[in-house]
Amino acid sequence: FYSVATTVHRNPLFSSISPDDISYFKTILGERGVVQDALALDAANTDWMGKYRGSSKLLLQPKNTEEVSQILKYCNSRCLAVVPQGGNTGLVGGSVPVFDEVIINVGLMRNILSFDKVIVSGVLVCEAGCILENLISFLDDEGFIMPLDLGAKGSCQIGGNVSTNAGGLRLLRYGSLHGSVLGLEAVLANGTVLDMLGTLRKDNTGYDLKHLFIGSEGSLGIVTKVSILTPPKLSSVNIAFLACEDYTSCQKLLLEAKKKLGGILSAFEFLDSDAMSLVLKHLDGVRNPLPPSIHNFYILIETTGSNETFDKENLEAFLLHSVESGLVANGVLAQDINQASSFWHIREGLPEALMKAGAVYKYDLSLPLEKMYDLVEEMRVQIGPAAKVVAYGHLGDGNLHLNISAPAYDDNILAKIEPFVYEWTSKNRGSISAEHGLGLMKAAKIHYSKSPETVQVMASIKKLLDPNGILNPYKVLPSSLFSQN
Ligand code: FAD
Ligand code: MLT
Ligand code: ZN
Repeated sequence: FYSVATTVHRNPLFSSISPDDISYFKTILGERGVVQDALALDAANTDWMGKYRGSSKLLLQPKNTEEVSQILKYCNSRCLAVVPQGGNTGLVGGSVPVFDEVIINVGLMRNILSFDKVIVSGVLVCEAGCILENLISFLDDEGFIMPLDLGAKGSCQIGGNVSTNAGGLRLLRYGSLHGSVLGLEAVLANGTVLDMLGTLRKDNTGYDLKHLFIGSEGSLGIVTKVSILTPPKLSSVNIAFLACEDYTSCQKLLLEAKKKLGGILSAFEFLDSDAMSLVLKHLDGVRNPLPPSIHNFYILIETTGSNETFDKENLEAFLLHSVESGLVANGVLAQDINQASSFWHIREGLPEALMKAGAVYKYDLSLPLEKMYDLVEEMRVQIGPAAKVVAYGHLGDGNLHLNISAPAYDDNILAKIEPFVYEWTSKNRGSISAEHGLGLMKAAKIHYSKSPETVQVMASIKKLLDPNGILNPYKVLPSSLFSQN
């Protein structure tokens, strides 16, 4: 595990769990909702990457908003720190305790409450513990889709998605959750339930507080219900897997795709040759779609529209033109659904391939498109042969996933990466978290992307909504801002 003990200290104002606390929680939740089993706790204490690990002795599983409210009210009165946890697929150490915080998981709150196809077409209202993939399947049967999709869909919860403002593979087309979430219900640290579960497209009555909870990573409240606008499912989806020999061609291809495929473009993802080699090495059954050799860059383009013949011809013509103009070295269009999912598997399998390869330092950056790959090349020079630099990401959104893959976590490697990567990003006016959030990993780094005044306002909001600081402590904002508490 990665050691964080040197960077944060347990807040001495927090209480530790007592037998009386356990008895109280059992009166609210029953035996089933109070988990002390060692195996279950081990899983809940450990993050998806196996990098961050807490030592919580208690996992609570409420079944409804009222129970969440009672738990938080009690924890606040006892000054017991808590970590809201969803599917535990977060990549910044935000979803697991740092010390002995109580873990609250709303996974039993997984009901779909309503789906309105008529008044405002496609409004889904559900509890926060619904697994994203289950919502995708539900909507598929209704002829709609979720406006977000990500590789972790089989485990992540919509409450976790909203709390991280997850981006993913469809953001290019459907925008961020700040646009598609119409409302939500959240429980504050003192147990107050905020009903902001609107389903309206337009509502300018005062401050739109729901946005505070979108992307605040469980630091301001526990999201218990979500209302989300879902687009209709369109019948024609086409996927192309292309190779480019240089980064400039990838950039130009994106501009061309926006111009020529504009309305139907639904994803524009990229990976470099080290990323492709990693997937081929570590994921079973994956084959290079453009053999025999490995190209420098690969692009996955997806179009989604309603005219099968037209859309396919459009993409084919785009491909042909891109090859003729020299932007694309090679390319293939998926001929059936199996081939389409095998292309997606290469891109979506990257986080898993990295995990299998050993230790990984993950950086999730927004950068100006023209500078993005310079960082990858500079990082390779900076690191030398000690580790592999693997780059992929949502090129269409200006989002680079820069991963440094090493046999084991090693402070000498880390010293070569940080603060270099943050300084570089800040100098180029990028963001040190495009979509994964700050969590524990980057709480103290927020100043690389936000001004001191902005961070101060954030800290004031946190103090207002959670005066005891019990909600996901040590995450999102620098702990130093709260040490006088
Ligand atoms: P968790 O990991 O459990 O928690 C994440 C954060 O949200 C924590 O700070 C936690 O405290 C808080 N939280 C969780 N539930 C609640 C709640 N109900 N109320 C308040 N706070 C809560 N992310 C992207 O943005 N785009 C991607 O493309 C993407 N792809 C991924 C692919 C893989 C294979 C993996 C493993 C992860 C990926 N992620 C991606 C990161 C992660 O899946 C997302 O951040 C996801 O939204 C987290 O959801 P979760 O339910 O697992 O939340
Ligand atoms: C992705 O786009 O694959 C995810 O954000 C996960 C990752 O960055 O590894
Ligand atoms: Zn991503």
